[in-house]
Amino acid sequence: MKPQHVREEILALNERGLLAEVLGFETTEVALKAYGAEVTTYSGRQLLDFTGGIAVHACGHNHPAIVTAIQSQAGEVLHVSDIMRHSPQLKLAEFLQNRFCEALAGEPFAFLFMNSGSEAIDAAAKLALRATGRSKFISFKGAFHGRTMFASALSHSKTIHWHGYETFLSPLRSRIFNAPAPRCQGCSMHKPDCCIQGLEQLLEAHKGEVAAIFFEAQQGEGGYFPLTSLMAHEMQRLANAHDALLIADEIQTGCGRTGKWFGFEHLGLRPDIVVLGKAIGGGLPLAAVAATQSLMGKWTPGEHGTTFGGNPVACAAGLAAMETIANEHLVDRARELGEKIKARLSNLVSKKLIADVRGNGLMLGIELRYTNGHPDYDRCERVKTAARERDLLLLTCGARVGDATVDNSTIRLIPPLNIAEEALWKGITILEDVLSEQI
Ligand SMILES: Cc1ncc(COP(=O)(O)O)c(C=O)c1O
Repeated sequence: MKPQHVREEILALNERGLLAEVLGFETTEVALKAYGAEVTTYSGRQLLDFTGGIAVHACGHNHPAIVTAIQSQAGEVLHVSDIMRHSPQLKLAEFLQNRFCEALAGEPFAFLFMNSGSEAIDAAAKLALRATGRSKFISFKGAFHGRTMFASALSHSKTIHWHGYETFLSPLRSRIFNAPAPRCQGCSMHKPDCCIQGLEQLLEAHKGEVAAIFFEAQQGEGGYFPLTSLMAHEMQRLANAHDALLIADEIQTGCGRTGKWFGFEHLGLRPDIVVLGKAIGGGLPLAAVAATQSLMGKWTPGEHGTTFGGNPVACAAGLAAMETIANEHLVDRARELGEKIKARLSNLVSKKLIADVRGNGLMLGIELRYTNGHPDYDRCERVKTAARERDLLLLTCGARVGDATVDNSTIRLIPPLNIAEEALWKGITILEDVLSEQI
């Protein structure tokens, strides 16, 4: 078939309602080819991608090293499941173990590979239940940990994610407690980090029963709020005092995104379990639960498992991505570019075009509020749509639960860590123009 006919056929299929719209596709465009920070569509548009497949493409779309690794592994072993170990999984685990040794002194970490972030969150919870013999969890208001039933019950960031399932989820939720959102916005106490008191009260009220506290070093879906080191310090103290495990959800913040290999490295704390996802697969579905070898050893072999998790091709892609991040010094680059972007966008805060610009590395949030302080969700949507009309793909985030201490409306910037500076500043200029027009 001629390329023009293929194109027409795909565009016609796209009109037929074949795919569930529950996914909430951002655009009606269909991806044809993608490279670096650019996606070419079947209708012939070239879109500058500041979404990176939702924070997955640390190395940009189709990095040659990742594509080559996939092709070469596909010719060797496609899939063996938990039947037998394979070299991409062992090599990726070795790479990660070395990164963990650099970040956290002491006992080496071991890894359980899964398919998706949510699934790995569930596995981390099972490990915490098993290791502690306890039965309750704490997560934060505004947190997002995924979409399996347990991860949905643990999450809080948007009512739409859980209210339709509330009756079913409520037994789980009776064992999950949301600590105050780790931020000062909307708080009536006007003291920095007083939200820690809420966490302490929960731990006291459920003394000896909390298996683990789940946290994001920088809330993702909830609005790109980084934890402060004071808050982290207090959380660590409380977790130690109550023998609760700390579980870092690094699914979005991990693998260099925030300008450190792991988001928790900004905070000076020591998580017991770390969950990785998104970037770790280099664009293929992969996630991991990381814990010290002795903690991982609390599980009896066969107690948990997966058919596809840690698939050889996904691990080969992930290893190529991790090596690219290291070899191309993308962690430092993320930190440096993030600081430059924040410095430039802070002008918009002073001109009152935006309420806040925050975040670490290339995980930046631009918050929009009405002059009365309420989150301006509509303007966020208008900015996103207007940017897309100018060929810039953006995503929004921000909690929406009807609680002033949590809710916010934020545009997120998560471009590839290796984005060419020219493309980066082109996108930022489009964003600035759109922000000044869409008031
Ligand atoms: C912080 C965080 N945790 C968990 C998840 C769920 O990961 P997945 O969509 O791979 O299941 C996400 C996805 O957006 C996330 O950002």
